[in-house]
Amino acid sequence: MRVAYVNGRYLPHHEAAVHIEDRGYQFADGIYEYVAFYNRTLVDGALHLKRLERSLRELEIAMPMSHAAMAMVIRELISRNNKDDGGLYIQITRGVAKRDHGFPKKVSPAVVMTVCGAKLPTDKQVKDGVAVVTQADIRWGRRDIKSISLLPNILAKQKAIEAGAREAWLVDGDIISEGSASNSYIVSKAGQLITHPANEFILGGITREVVLELAKNSGVPVAERAFTMSDVKNAAEAFLTSTSANVLPVTSVNGKPVGNGKVGPVTRKLAQLYLDHIFKITGKKI
Ligand code: PDD
Repeated sequence: MRVAYVNGRYLPHHEAAVHIEDRGYQFADGIYEYVAFYNRTLVDGALHLKRLERSLRELEIAMPMSHAAMAMVIRELISRNNKDDGGLYIQITRGVAKRDHGFPKKVSPAVVMTVCGAKLPTDKQVKDGVAVVTQADIRWGRRDIKSISLLPNILAKQKAIEAGAREAWLVDGDIISEGSASNSYIVSKAGQLITHPANEFILGGITREVVLELAKNSGVPVAERAFTMSDVKNAAEAFLTSTSANVLPVTSVNGKPVGNGKVGPVTRKLAQLYLDHIFKITGKKI
């Protein structure tokens, strides 16, 4: 049976619910994390937890439980769901209070955790790459906070789905900031890996952090700088990263091939290094 954790209780998934005056429901006043696990072991759990705490701090929501308690709940939830591999979703909102915009005085954060199956890309997507389309980036100015306010992201993703693409790359002015639920990269003809700097205009992905480290350690030159559609047109390769997609080759943007339209050597190398990273942590070969 699928089990959810809701404010201290483990409930059957279909019965799990929050109050209608939860500020997450009414104002999107909360944050989340999505962490992959294999062999019941979180991939980069400590980095995700660090980002979760940072997001909470930025919204002035207190961390509702100790690290030890959170680790215990996560272990217990994965065990109760009897899943070896999958994704852990954690959502923390400011809590339940009468609907007023200002922060309520006495309120405890509401914590929800659920577990789902792994959402890995298909073998064909990994082998041949995926298509992306561009969409205007209409989000707010603090995209570094992993806020549950995802309306612009879901609208962009829906447009991508309708266009038969895997992801929407969000364009802010001239600049491609990131994907609707992933970070974006190109590899220049000179072999330099280029991705938007981790500032307030993008979500600093955990996969991004790890992949950039793997790239640097394996001799791939990295430039954390903004890139435009004209850079994409001149690029040799492109890819995206996220907790669920890992390193996923992008072989076309708006219907036009990137480079020669095939998955390139730098992307292939980083994709393998990232899978090796998962293997080292969890013992799982994907
Ligand atoms: N999305 N940028 C955005 C806007 C995202 O939503 C995500 C992740 C990323 C990649 O971050 P990470 O490597 O830490 O997964 C970048 C998750 C998977 C989600 O929304 O479910």
